[in-house]
Amino acid sequence: MKTIRWGILGAGKIARKFAADLAFVQRAELRAIGAREKSAAEQFAKEFSIPNAHGSYQSVVQDPSVDVIYIATPHGFHFEHALLCLGNKKAVLCEKAFAINCKQAEHMLAFASEQNTFIMEAFWTKFLPHYNLVKRMLAEGKVGTIQSIIAEFGFKPTPPIAQRIHDPFLGGGSLLDIGLYPVFLALDLLGRPDYIEAGMKPASTGVDDQIAIQFKYADGKFAQLFSSFTSNMATGADINGDAGRIRLTNRFHGPTTSIEYYTGTVDTKEEITFEKSKGTGYEYEAQHVTDCLIEGLKESPIMKHSDTLLLMETLDRIREKAGIIYPHDKK
Ligand SMILES: NC(=O)c1ccc[n+]([C@@H]2O[C@H](COP(=O)([O-])OP(=O)(O)OC[C@H]3O[C@@H](n4cnc5c(N)ncnc54)[C@H](OP(=O)(O)O)[C@@H]3O)[C@@H](O)[C@H]2O)c1
Repeated sequence: MKTIRWGILGAGKIARKFAADLAFVQRAELRAIGAREKSAAEQFAKEFSIPNAHGSYQSVVQDPSVDVIYIATPHGFHFEHALLCLGNKKAVLCEKAFAINCKQAEHMLAFASEQNTFIMEAFWTKFLPHYNLVKRMLAEGKVGTIQSIIAEFGFKPTPPIAQRIHDPFLGGGSLLDIGLYPVFLALDLLGRPDYIEAGMKPASTGVDDQIAIQFKYADGKFAQLFSSFTSNMATGADINGDAGRIRLTNRFHGPTTSIEYYTGTVDTKEEITFEKSKGTGYEYEAQHVTDCLIEGLKESPIMKHSDTLLLMETLDRIREKAGIIYPHDKK
């Protein structure tokens, strides 16, 4: 049976979680790691028993024993690194934020089509069991018609604070790092907003330290969204319908062991529980990409190119309202 051979570009924090989760993926093996320094690649390779350690990104994308590359660098580099992978005909799973702006995202997706090569944004939430159940419950009309979504994601980074959190060249700021999860939820459940309002508090580097966003829809629906690097927040979400409510509790965007369902007031609370996932939660998206590649697909039927473009276009609209500008926007 065919096996999909993975490589990772960038040996940082998320790369380590992803590498560990690949152990739970069927028909997948981790063959290579690429880092800017050979010693970092070797250390990573030792930790996860990876056969090939490359001391440059150029070298990992040229590794003939690799089919697909997981891009785990700061989002300021996703554009450059995705083009590097695609140029060498490597399939790509690219971390969020997929790009800095929609123009970059369009270019990346167009190049993937030109190269006839698979690319997907690593939007892990879409593949998690609790989120899939929520989608099924909504399709079954469990909350009636959704009237509003209220979602927030906030944490206060603790020292030593990673440079990428606030550095505009690396794509810093709460919106592109964590605010895109509440934004994704509203887009996935309510669609493209007709109007957007947004305001932010800048960090000393000019990127947003926290941001408040409101989506308005012509039919009277709303989404109230928030992200912050200034406070540890509940990181929950409420999906409010005219016949019920679903509350996604603590860290709604990641794997969870329970969600709350209400058909009336708070007294009607029903807790729906899940088994804990085997890994950190990245195994679901990794399994999906592995399956897509085995089937020879060039685009995921779940996290579609149009989903990524809608998200990036909306992030651009929010940034315009809030006044968030990156050096990449001027290119
Ligand atoms: N889906 C999720 O749940 C999730 C969670 C966290 C982060 N992420 C995303 O994953 C990406 C990486 O985040 P992270 O937390 O893993 O970051 P990190 O720990 O800082 O690692 C980023 C890696 O990128 C490489 N890199 C290349 N050029 C760099 C530069 N100029 N400055 C800093 N690093 C550079 C480095 O790898 P080498 O030096 O080894 O080459 C570094 O180890 C971001 O886009 C972030 O949004 C996603």
